[in-house]
Amino acid sequence: MQQQISALEVEALAAIAAASDLRALDELRVHYLGKKGRLTILLKSLGKMTAEERPAAGQALNLAKSAIASAVESRHDSMRAQEMDRPAVFDLTLPGVEPTAGTRHPLLEVIEEICDIFHGMGYTRAGGPDVELDALNFTALNFPDDHPSRDLQDTFYVNDDVVLRTQTSPVQIRWMREHEPPVAIVAPGRVYRQEQPDASHAAEFYQIEGLFVDHDVSLADLKATVEAFVRAFYGDDHKLRFRPHFFPFTEPSVEVDLWWESEGRSGWLEIMGAGMVHPHVFANCGYEEDRYTGFAFGMGIDRIAMVRHRIPDIRLFLENDLRFLRQF
Ligand code: PHE
Repeated sequence: MQQQISALEVEALAAIAAASDLRALDELRVHYLGKKGRLTILLKSLGKMTAEERPAAGQALNLAKSAIASAVESRHDSMRAQEMDRPAVFDLTLPGVEPTAGTRHPLLEVIEEICDIFHGMGYTRAGGPDVELDALNFTALNFPDDHPSRDLQDTFYVNDDVVLRTQTSPVQIRWMREHEPPVAIVAPGRVYRQEQPDASHAAEFYQIEGLFVDHDVSLADLKATVEAFVRAFYGDDHKLRFRPHFFPFTEPSVEVDLWWESEGRSGWLEIMGAGMVHPHVFANCGYEEDRYTGFAFGMGIDRIAMVRHRIPDIRLFLENDLRFLRQF
């Protein structure tokens, strides 16, 4: 019996050492140690032995069993380690995966272009928060308490004192409270109004605010600046119209229209609100009375980008639909 056991062990260990792969190794494990494995059958035969034979045979079988089991295990580990060490096989002739590169959003493109033009005229870029104090969005801009645009219909109120800014004009206040003239800033950003969304209205849209303040600034300077901007942005061939209008924070106020012709259609397109800074606004920023004059303007960005790219619906800008965005 002892001889039979040690012959089996020698045979098993040699076979394990010679196993060529993990599958062959597993077959050997089953062959020797499995339920009907050769060693298992010998273990089962213990019951038929005499009481004298049994202890020595049992011990020898158990030793052989654990020797074979640990040989299988260590061969298994070294095969796995070898497999991990093997360099991955690359087929350099396969076509690669092209990385997707993003493009600039059409609104950002227009914002950068407009800021660039004003930068060329000496303007600095400024900004303010989207969630703004009512005091800066309205009160400091000379809106009387009962002005209709303060109504819940137009403004998203966070609480009694805080709103989602309805315009970029509060950046004027923020800047003038921190800086003495000369002031020349442009401030692009998102604004919010309670609108019923449709193809030309969204509850979120973009504006660029402009502010210029110094000694002896006149409406002629405003007109010349707007004309220089329009020439740079739309080209030399343009017609502009300044219409009287009302804003609480400018006096006098105007709206500026651009004559537009495209594919047989034409008309005046409103491109901005503007005017001379109201003396109350200067006072609210702590500027000395009658010392400075200035002009401000506010442009809608979405409209400009829609005209430029013939985009039919303003809501497309905010939907993040890649089929739309990939066209730019
Ligand atoms: N804030 C105004 C609007 O949103 C536009 C404007 C800006 C008008 C600056 C005059 C001066 O309609």
